Amino acid sequence: MHLYGTQAIDAEGHLTIGGVRAVDLARRFGTPLYVLDEELIRQNCRAYVDAFRSAWPDFIVAYAAKAFLCTAMAALVHQEGLYLDVVSGGELITALRAGVPAERLIFHGNNKTPEELDLALRAGVGRIVVDSFSELDLLADMAAEREVRPRIALRITPGVEAHTHHYIATGQLDSKFGIPIAGGAGLEAVRRALETPAVDLVGLHCHIGSQILDLGGYEVTAARMVDFMAAVQRETGWTCPELNLGGGLGVRYTAEDRAPTPAELVAVLTRTVRARCEAHELPLPRLVVEPGRSIVGEAGTTLYTVGAIKEIPGVRTYVAVDGGMGDNPRPALYQARYDAVVANRAAEPRIRLVTVVGRTCESGDVLIRDLPVPETIARGDILAVQVTGAYNYSMASHYNRFPKPAVVLVRDGEADVVVERETWEDLLRFDRMPERLRAGVAWR
Ligand code: LLP
Repeated sequence: MHLYGTQAIDAEGHLTIGGVRAVDLARRFGTPLYVLDEELIRQNCRAYVDAFRSAWPDFIVAYAAKAFLCTAMAALVHQEGLYLDVVSGGELITALRAGVPAERLIFHGNNKTPEELDLALRAGVGRIVVDSFSELDLLADMAAEREVRPRIALRITPGVEAHTHHYIATGQLDSKFGIPIAGGAGLEAVRRALETPAVDLVGLHCHIGSQILDLGGYEVTAARMVDFMAAVQRETGWTCPELNLGGGLGVRYTAEDRAPTPAELVAVLTRTVRARCEAHELPLPRLVVEPGRSIVGEAGTTLYTVGAIKEIPGVRTYVAVDGGMGDNPRPALYQARYDAVVANRAAEPRIRLVTVVGRTCESGDVLIRDLPVPETIARGDILAVQVTGAYNYSMASHYNRFPKPAVVLVRDGEADVVVERETWEDLLRFDRMPERLRAGVAWR
């Protein structure tokens, strides 16, 4: 087991996060509960910023909001000087509501709706990342009509296969995202954007995937993108001022994982871009990165209450918790692996193997297979699943009509709710009853 950020085990064998006992958080706020370690989020933001500061003249670190977003999170990363990468009208208004200036937003998406583009244009979003020719045309028409000139970047597919789960790889040629360099489409897109007076082309963007643990893919990508910048300059005369290399840095989900640090990623990117720029005699572009998971992933812990324990002799022991794939779909979707600790027995030896399951009506609702736990695990214990900060709350569903858990932010012994727990009443809020269904049983 590995302890992350401010996680610690106190003298009585209790897991603490941000100086607060997990069991106290569970008692006060209920379970399931997402707990976020504010200190670790801030440290992760600073790791990126500090690495760039010492290596590169001009840069932007943008937090990829899809990993986890609520107004408090937007405000927190904004305080740390990060921009925000948003992918929907919902994320966009969340950032604005939190007080993030529109010019510090980067708007992504492979099929932004006219309504979302309208919102972005009215708000004055700093960069709209155009994903296709069709979107370029739509945006140009909308901008001309509104007499505004949005700053855009073009999303380019570099043709790199990142070594990650294929559901979360995006840099390869066959992808719904971006415009490929291969076959000349990328160059054609730059030409078209330059010839479109309604938009202001300010940069190029790419993103090769997520939970990437091998920096080799980044090196190839950065080199290819600078080579592409050089080809573009030769063909069009346009010098690309800003290169956005996306997000994707992996995190350590279990003690066996090895994840590169943000500083190591930034070192690879800056070294590669500098070398390729020198080779092509290009000026150094402003560099942009968009980390999501590596900012918030390890900072999240989900607390569950242990319920039914079912021993099938000779087969396995199931430990059921009061959440599951509704609050963490990642094991079911990506075969993702997690580690967990019984928060009220954190110092006891972990000698018994159990399988942790949720309570949705799905056999696939297995959170952790073969988790070592203390012999004494019992109903009412608090199980703390680690590294659930990214793509858990943001991917949660209402399957089986379970209300979504609350999110609390902990720091220096204090805990604040940043997203309220949903209630059963909340689940009914959007239901409507047509008059003809009010009568009762239709047959006798
Ligand atoms: N930039 C772009 C354009 C992206 O598409 C993504 C993630 C990011 C940045 C941030 O990537 P990160 O640093 O968080 O890896 N639901 C999946 C992950 C999907 C990632 C989608 N795009 C999961 O739970 O693993």
